[in-house]
Amino acid sequence: MNAKWIIEAAVIASLAVIAMPAQAGKADAGLDAKTTEIIKRDFRDKGIAKADRVNQDELQAMCSKYVDKVPAKMKAKLEAAQEKQIKWPADGKFMGDWKAGEKLAQSGKGMTWSDKADEPAGGNCYNCHRLSAKEIAYGTIGPSLLNFGKIRGSGEDIQRYAYGRIYNAKAYNACANMPRFGHMGILSEAQIKDLVALLLDPESPVNK
Ligand code: HEC
Repeated sequence: MNAKWIIEAAVIASLAVIAMPAQAGKADAGLDAKTTEIIKRDFRDKGIAKADRVNQDELQAMCSKYVDKVPAKMKAKLEAAQEKQIKWPADGKFMGDWKAGEKLAQSGKGMTWSDKADEPAGGNCYNCHRLSAKEIAYGTIGPSLLNFGKIRGSGEDIQRYAYGRIYNAKAYNACANMPRFGHMGILSEAQIKDLVALLLDPESPVNK
């Protein structure tokens, strides 16, 4: 990212704000094309971070087009298509080790150009969620998950829900602001299980 890109991004962002009232929830196609053109011109492959990351899949394109307010029928269709692609654990077990899960939740490592392809990434959960009461540094983009298991229980249904949510949040809410950790290959099955345990194990600091 260079200074020129930052300035251009700032100009585009301010244009978008100015243009907003006239659009009433639907993105301006011309502005969208211009933004894409600038992004594609200025992003390049570097290390494991390839420029094709800026290409939107069908779901992302729809969320952009409708500025996250996709019509209900289309939203249900998009979510069903995402749900179909969730790879559930072959052994039917959803709970791993909450201690490993807490480390993953704390770690924002991975996916940048200086990371290696064979090094496991972190989950970055604290960036958006409150989890353990002991951790005072957390983001609020997502809802608080403190006491998640205490409130929601720890049975098979909620285990499956938590696994699916982490694997592909957009199967539950098409334009959710949460990364699709399994779907995008950020976290492995075992890592997601560890995070499910962090959320649901009665012994985990989320529920203690
Ligand atoms: C970029 C921000 C972001 C990150 C990073 C993130 N989440 Fe989320 N998460 C959200 C948002 C936003 C929601 C609410 C989604 C919605 O509106 O449907 C959410 C929802 C959830 C829910 C559903 C909560 C409920 O009440 O049903 C769970 C569980 C969850 N996140 C777990 C995690 C875990 C575990 C991680 C780390 C692997 C994580 N999230 C990382 C933003 C994030």
